Amino acid sequence: DMGEYQHYMLKEIYEQPSVIRRVIQNYLTDQKEIIKSELINEIKNSDRVYVLAAGTSMHAGYVGKALIEELVNIPVEVHIASEFAYHMPLLTKNPFFILVSQSGETADLRACLLNIKNKGFKTLTITNVKTSTLAREADFYLELFAGPEIAVASTKAYIAQIAVFAILANKIALNSIDIKSELNRVAVAIEIFLENQEISILAHEKLTKQNCFYIGRGLDYYTSLEAALKLKEISYIQTEGFAAGELKHGTIALIEDKTPVIALISNKDIALNTRSNLKETNARGAETIIITLESLKHKDDEIVLNDVNSFLAPMLMVVPTQLLAYYAALERGLDIDKPRNLAKSVTVE
Ligand code: F6R
Repeated sequence: DMGEYQHYMLKEIYEQPSVIRRVIQNYLTDQKEIIKSELINEIKNSDRVYVLAAGTSMHAGYVGKALIEELVNIPVEVHIASEFAYHMPLLTKNPFFILVSQSGETADLRACLLNIKNKGFKTLTITNVKTSTLAREADFYLELFAGPEIAVASTKAYIAQIAVFAILANKIALNSIDIKSELNRVAVAIEIFLENQEISILAHEKLTKQNCFYIGRGLDYYTSLEAALKLKEISYIQTEGFAAGELKHGTIALIEDKTPVIALISNKDIALNTRSNLKETNARGAETIIITLESLKHKDDEIVLNDVNSFLAPMLMVVPTQLLAYYAALERGLDIDKPRNLAKSVTVE
């Protein structure tokens, strides 16, 4: 049931604060231990974690990589499932595998799992569907608690995936962060943004071309990949996510008058670098949008969000980009919940 919302996608975007609270409730408040000590030990004793996924789940995997490397200090590689299945990289001696999949049915991941199991290695599936094939076939699974995701474009599952990665990494790191209150802060920041957002106007005024770029550095680069996928899949605007510093090495040639370039800026150490990359595009006629946090804002920034822990900023920074995609598609009269050529779960390789 869509309730007051015109589309499932919009409903699912607005559900995100409650999804975060449900993840907190299940993992951090209730007495039951969802994350078994056996799983913690497997990860702790591994010399490298391999994260395998596709699409949006892979983008959550990139953020997961950053969280695990920073908090746990184990190297993490993220691989495209369909590549890993048939072009397996050289593995370390004690690898551990994390498969990330909203549906738990993605065929590319099932192909990976077969190969990994053949080699006798241990696996964890992070999924929204605990009865799914990938949940059943892995050694461990962690549930997202996002509730059924109906819209083809994934939103709330992505947020939940990052939350679960953060909780897992923090637990392995012996709770070095007060993760409960940091996640709560994200939920509140999303709520505050959603209450007052005027994204439809921005989408109308600035997303007027058939192409678009997102730029960011560090975690914001990962968010830019996800933001680009979301915009292209439902609005059919050709969009690329770029490491902000990389655009000038070739792709800036594509910037013309009114080409939208959207900068994601949540990290203070590199905020000015990204701003100067954006200025370069501005000088070539780009129509720019800045999405940033309160403590980093400059006058005239278009979208300013409340501050949150920088580790968790991707959960917040992605929300305006989901809405930009939604309103761009709405304005074009497209089938938002069922974009052309796409299926909710991709069960063929
Ligand atoms: C994008 C999207 C897809 C999925 C991908 C993986 O909005 O929905 O890119 O993320 O097909 O699906 P799961 O997570 O079910 O394995």
